[in-house]
Amino acid sequence: MESPDRFVNRDQAYLRDVAYVNGDKLRARTQLHTNYATQSVPWQVWLQRLVEIPKGGEILEVGCGTGLLWTIGWTSEESDFSLTLTDLSAGMVAETTPLVRRTIRDVKGLAVDAQELPFADNSFDVVVANQMLYHVPDPSLALREFARVLRRGGVLMASTVGAGHLRELFRIEASVFGPTRVLRHHEVFGAQSGGDLLAEIFDGVAWHPYDDRLLCTDVDDVIEYICSTPPGEDASRDQVAQLRHLVEDQMAAHDGVLVVTKDVGAFIAHR
Ligand SMILES: C[S@@+](CC[C@H](N)C(=O)[O-])C[C@H]1O[C@@H](n2cnc3c(N)ncnc32)[C@H](O)[C@@H]1O
Repeated sequence: MESPDRFVNRDQAYLRDVAYVNGDKLRARTQLHTNYATQSVPWQVWLQRLVEIPKGGEILEVGCGTGLLWTIGWTSEESDFSLTLTDLSAGMVAETTPLVRRTIRDVKGLAVDAQELPFADNSFDVVVANQMLYHVPDPSLALREFARVLRRGGVLMASTVGAGHLRELFRIEASVFGPTRVLRHHEVFGAQSGGDLLAEIFDGVAWHPYDDRLLCTDVDDVIEYICSTPPGEDASRDQVAQLRHLVEDQMAAHDGVLVVTKDVGAFIAHR
């Protein structure tokens, strides 16, 4: 089995060529959040409300993934800004750019590492880094790049997770795979650690928590989620069966529902 470390902040080739070679694995995880959320305002709509996009503004998204921030809640007529979509994975950019063109008029897509942006200083009014900085080997280097390409007065929106995020799923994983000591998302760039990194570079840093939890009722959906990243990604048939029993037992003990905690939100920071 390869090291489960590779998903968080280590192995850019694995992220680019396996985990995010296209949107399939990410979609499996997004489904769990959209299907079982208790919060009535969808995550993407909530994020959109945190930032005012200036009319005619230039927006950069780094680590755009499947582009949900731009395909939910927009119509082409109201998108009076230009959007540059970027991701480490060329496959992701190729898949996402045409989808986003259906809802945002002015879009270009580019495969780019957040730590080395191929844009001039002072090029953008808004930079978005949505659930991606915990993957980056040097998040501070990426933040300095975001500050460099932002115009003075520009805004960074950087969403991430905190220590309690999905703790019930991590507990189930640990019961099957053992308590492997690997870096977790929030330790690299999380609700607590991220604020300190941002404050070194940006002004007026504020954390906005998103209030939600998941009430999961379908065992397969939970298993698909767990098996979309390491260590679940490399699970043997026996380990998948063990995962399944644990999820079924927990659902049976709580009227058919597995309650999953979310600890998630976004930083707004100013240049
Ligand atoms: C968890 S997904 C988030 C996708 C999307 N922003 C969302 O919230 O749905 C993380 C994305 O960051 C990308 N990524 C990872 N490391 C990166 C890097 N160094 N530079 C740019 N993108 C990166 C991955 O390819 C992946 O598409």
